[in-house]
Amino acid sequence: MFITFEGPEGSGKSSQIALLSDFLRQQGFTVITTREPGGTLIGDQIRDVLHDVANTAMVPAAELLLYSASRAQLVGEVVRPALAAGQIVICDRFYDSTLAYQGYGRTLDLTELSHITQFATGGLKPDLTLLLDIEVERGLARRRDGGEEMNRLDLEVVSFHRRVRDGYHELALLEPERWVIVDADQPVTAVQAALRQIVLSRLRERVAATDREINE
Ligand code: TMP
Repeated sequence: MFITFEGPEGSGKSSQIALLSDFLRQQGFTVITTREPGGTLIGDQIRDVLHDVANTAMVPAAELLLYSASRAQLVGEVVRPALAAGQIVICDRFYDSTLAYQGYGRTLDLTELSHITQFATGGLKPDLTLLLDIEVERGLARRRDGGEEMNRLDLEVVSFHRRVRDGYHELALLEPERWVIVDADQPVTAVQAALRQIVLSRLRERVAATDREINE
């Protein structure tokens, strides 16, 4: 099962992913966690270029293609082999980030983005996408207060981040069976409890569907 996490800056994805993966392992599942951009040696080098605040000259098309290159490498090297081995893959961001940030944020054409994304992933789609939703100013403040390193995109104006968040909501509406929106502006434990419930119920549904197939 392929699970992706999405959300605006400061939504707490990485801490929630760490807690969720530990929990699932305790339940006996084999889980690998990864992230975008990065997750491979090649992808991590691309990540450095993308996030370097000195790279102010980067044009939107180059940005898009670098994220896509990192994604193609991650899918080929990590995600597909793990899924083929029956593992649960949890990825911190995937192609929906491209649609939200480069599409809604940078206003690149969404249809073109979908084609490039399709090429990069070979058509691989998440089974479940969890949107950790938080109001833009709250998220940015959390990130600053958390002392986290600010990347090139964190430094964008607030209106950019608002378009990104609204974009996520539009994407979620288009595919309600894949997306679940979780309010990330709650204590860590409350967000985690909600995530565990959603993921366990999806896992049970999958087991039930497989059992039905076997018995047919
Ligand atoms: P993060 O690892 O802290 O979430 O940072 C990743 C940054 O890269 C974040 O600002 C979102 C941005 N991003 C894109 O703009 N497009 C993409 O396709 C991906 C994966 C990330």
